[in-house]
Amino acid sequence: MKKYTVFITSKIPEEGINLLQQQGYVLKFGSLKKAKGAHALLCLLTDTIDAKVMNAIGPQLKIISNMAAGLDNIDIHEAVKRGITFTNTPGVLTEAVAEHTVALLLAVSRRVVEGDQFVREKKYKGWQIDLLLGQELRGKTVGIVGYGRIGSRVAAILEKGFGMKVVYHDEHRNEIAEKNNAQYVSFRDLLKIADVVSLHVPLLATTLHLVGEKELRMMKRTAYLINTSRGAVVDEKALARVLKGNSIAGAGIDVFEHEPKIDDSLLKAQNVVLTPHIASASHEARIAMAELAAKNIINVLKV
Ligand code: GLV
Repeated sequence: MKKYTVFITSKIPEEGINLLQQQGYVLKFGSLKKAKGAHALLCLLTDTIDAKVMNAIGPQLKIISNMAAGLDNIDIHEAVKRGITFTNTPGVLTEAVAEHTVALLLAVSRRVVEGDQFVREKKYKGWQIDLLLGQELRGKTVGIVGYGRIGSRVAAILEKGFGMKVVYHDEHRNEIAEKNNAQYVSFRDLLKIADVVSLHVPLLATTLHLVGEKELRMMKRTAYLINTSRGAVVDEKALARVLKGNSIAGAGIDVFEHEPKIDDSLLKAQNVVLTPHIASASHEARIAMAELAAKNIINVLKV
């Protein structure tokens, strides 16, 4: 049997490594620069895999296995041109990302982070009737943008757990959504109706800055924006402006346009809860992602 080399750009959970070792592959680790000669590449969303990288690795490369749900770090047209298979790890991080989305929503709507700071700064001098008032979710409307695996799970948690009404927008109407009583609306109507706008679309040319200043200004003044998809889906500077002017009530943001850089104006905004791209960062999801990324490689190399 041919000895395949699998190049892994980061330390991933051992469950994934074990699966690859059981196949007898040669495993190599390190930065992308050292991947020359690999038959398979196991990479992360922080690795940019463009034509230059593919050329440097060489024509024997058969598969790029991205340990992420998104594929926006890979130039998929260049991969197709070269006949290289590319895979991602959808499904196994749905729960983690959906739960984090809800965590961000609750954190901003119930002012959890502000409360924590208030206590630590020793400002808490006793119960006050009007201290850090937030908004409840029950009976309000969540607008899901992108009713896929994660979007539909967020919708279910917020509907069943918190009594929210669900409207959604996607490229197409979704039968499951309709069965679940989620109402299809135009993107414009969603922005106008929703008390919470939650983004669950991949980053594509068509979703770049999908939410810009104009869209943000269509939202209710009392509404929240939650983004656990990709940073560039939102115009970050515009979001900071709109937050500063209190044109929306707040935001929960896990992903940034130029991460790990974050626009200063967003860092200064008070009514936003920021997390460092950790929506899928549960132990369960990371193990399952590593296993799936390994299985994707095995499936391609065995044919
Ligand atoms: C996380 O953002 C992922 O795409 O897996």
